[in-house]
Amino acid sequence: MKRLIGSICAAAGIFATCTFSAGHRTFRDDLPATSESERYELDSTVLKLETIASHLNAVWDMAWGPDQWIWFSDQDGKVSRLNPATGQIVDILQIHDYYRKRLGLMSMVLHPDWQKHPHVFINYSHMQPDSVIVSKLVRYTYNGKTLVAPKLLYQIPGYLGHNGSRLVISKDRKILWATGDLKKHETIQNPAFANGKVLRLNLDGSIPEDNPYPGSAAWAMGFRVPQGLTYTAGGKLFIAEHGDATDDEVNLAQKRKSYGWPAIAGFCDLPEEQRNCPDSAVAPVKAWTPTIAPAGMDYYRGNIPEWNNALLLTTLKDQSLRVLRLDSKQEKVTGEQVVFSKKFGRLRDVCVSPSGDIYISTSNRDWNPPAGFPAQADDRIIQIRRSGTIPKAARIVKKEQNNGSGDAAALYASFCESCHKADGQGVRGSFPSLVASRLVAGDKTELLRFILKGSQAATGEAMPAFSFLTDAQLAAVSTFVRGKFGKVSEVRAGEVAQARNLRD
Ligand code: HEC
Repeated sequence: MKRLIGSICAAAGIFATCTFSAGHRTFRDDLPATSESERYELDSTVLKLETIASHLNAVWDMAWGPDQWIWFSDQDGKVSRLNPATGQIVDILQIHDYYRKRLGLMSMVLHPDWQKHPHVFINYSHMQPDSVIVSKLVRYTYNGKTLVAPKLLYQIPGYLGHNGSRLVISKDRKILWATGDLKKHETIQNPAFANGKVLRLNLDGSIPEDNPYPGSAAWAMGFRVPQGLTYTAGGKLFIAEHGDATDDEVNLAQKRKSYGWPAIAGFCDLPEEQRNCPDSAVAPVKAWTPTIAPAGMDYYRGNIPEWNNALLLTTLKDQSLRVLRLDSKQEKVTGEQVVFSKKFGRLRDVCVSPSGDIYISTSNRDWNPPAGFPAQADDRIIQIRRSGTIPKAARIVKKEQNNGSGDAAALYASFCESCHKADGQGVRGSFPSLVASRLVAGDKTELLRFILKGSQAATGEAMPAFSFLTDAQLAAVSTFVRGKFGKVSEVRAGEVAQARNLRD
């Protein structure tokens, strides 16, 4: 589906040049080759992709500002403004009391009534003197130059990861705040706790009287790690979250509803889930296994017809932009297109301008970069805009991407690589290396039992249980791991079946 321009130019033979001239826009340091703009073709629309800012640092949130600039935050507590026409960047805030082991500064939203209330709401992690990590919601005021006068509006428990988060402001002027589960499963379905929720607050941080649980900020619950939250033009609120080993989800978020986690991952379809399927648990509008790690999401309406009335969803692990077309009521996902796969690395957020231009931000300088990243120019903000139409005669019918490959390398890439990495070396201090691992090269049954059951490491990191894979898939992926990292013999499906049936 993704075709880069060299080949399509040759095939269609209608474009005189295949690369636009370099747009020398970024004011920082040396200019990377990647700032050259590039063509990208949809069915009938030609897009122009251009890096408009580079050498940034794990950009978490982007918002279209009242000044027609992009306001963006990075995980190291900085907020800046970017002029999308010139590439000029002006820093307007450096928070000092953020805590970044994994996360740091996360989401940010601007007050919609800006003329009267030039406020920016920011959520970040903070470590208290007693070493307890909290997650703060702080309001800043823009004085025309910088963000000043911080006012703490609300504070909830935090954690190294699993914090969420994303902020939006509703038409009725409430803050909606998607929070992570903090890995504390007991309290996700309890409205007295802030984890695994969409919280709803007044803009002064107080709890609205019409919230579903009196005195509680909880508005909807049952989420794991939500990093995408957006309203559609018709006022529907969608939330995107990370699943565990399976089932990343996009849900239509509604007041007082539960979205299943931790009892249910994705659809309530497994036997052990069906025992726990409460009537109130809402099924996702879209779920992904293998997981893709969805992050920021925005609703699209603009001059790219293929993408009209769609949710644009960035992904970290899958390193792609997902276009989720919606039905006319904006309640269901009717189709999915995957673009820019592996082109820019991890993508954390997306922002749509009023004229329909799209901006995506990379997150290759966060704690978990993929192989080959960060690139020298990372992190970047990339502009995507319509630049023309493909003549009818030159259009080529494209097939939707097929993710269902059963091939062993693809299974490893889908299920293991995000932690253990393509070269099997893992991430120091978090995910162990599989190269020269005794478990990989040793007894097959022991290895299979480990992969089937998963494990919690002393560092707090977890290896998910992979019992949901079929015997054939598990045989293929363990054969791959043993062959590639252990240089030892294959595993057969029968051996997986035997390991699965062993009692503890
Ligand atoms: C979400 C991250 C994550 C994913 C995905 C993951 N693992 Fe792991 N893996 C871990 C962690 C964490 C450990 C350490 C667990 C422990 O120490 O108890 C681990 C340990 C292992 C070990 C033991 C290594 C050793 O020598 O100690 C093997 C083998 C392994 N994983 C294989 C796999 C395979 C095969 C897959 C894909 C099917 C996979 N893992 C997917 C996180 C992950």
